[in-house]
Amino acid sequence: MTAAPRFAWAVTGSGHELEESLALAARLPDVDLFLSAAAEEVLPMYGRRLEALRRRFRVVRDKTASAVPVGALYAEAYHTLVVAPATSNTVAKCAVGISDSLPTNLYAQAGKLGIPSLVYACDTEPVVVTRAPHDWVTLRPRRIELRNVALLREFEATEVLASAAELEAALGRRLAALGLAWLPAQAAADFLAERGPASDAPGPDDDGAEGRVRRPGETAA
Ligand SMILES: Cc1cc2nc3c(=O)[nH]c(=O)nc-3n(C[C@H](O)[C@H](O)[C@H](O)COP(=O)(O)O)c2cc1C
Repeated sequence: MTAAPRFAWAVTGSGHELEESLALAARLPDVDLFLSAAAEEVLPMYGRRLEALRRRFRVVRDKTASAVPVGALYAEAYHTLVVAPATSNTVAKCAVGISDSLPTNLYAQAGKLGIPSLVYACDTEPVVVTRAPHDWVTLRPRRIELRNVALLREFEATEVLASAAELEAALGRRLAALGLAWLPAQAAADFLAERGPASDAPGPDDDGAEGRVRRPGETAA
């Protein structure tokens, strides 16, 4: 017997709307998180560690050049793809048909299989106030970012969302269409409370060891 299909939720390396996106993911039944390599770096900078994510979700890391885990889409393991938050990098790649990371491969293959995709794009407004790890920053997305979002809106089987409220509404519609329901709010609250301290950003001399950042002047052990 095959297992019931699940949500495939791709997380990219965006600090913008990261918490809001995870808060929605935590309220859904049966979600697997697929992290881009950048997401894996950025998540701990916002206090979200892999071990804590794994207590709530099945977590798939971007460790293969050919996006091996995407094969699960062919096995009908997923009824919906969510990309949230989606960096301007991932949006740009998706909009021109590039698939060279876990999220972009999921998006391309979901499209070819007719699996609906919900993409929460970061850069959708002329001015975006975004959360850096320790501060708030005002950004002005360029024409190219706004153009890529517009391009993506034209793709088949794709809904592009411009706010967490829009994503929540789209997920609500998807749940209803699938005959599913949101989990009780407490399920998300427990997960969200697990946020740890923000880790430092990897420095220029980062030796790549998991969670270990070498300071200038410090040598490898
Ligand atoms: C702390 C931090 C926060 C970031 N936040 C954003 C963001 O909000 N939006 C964005 O487009 N890129 C952001 N980036 C840059 C992306 O992580 C970078 O472009 C990366 O190459 C994206 O790769 P991905 O699209 O495969 O996840 C951030 C980087 C760091 C270090």
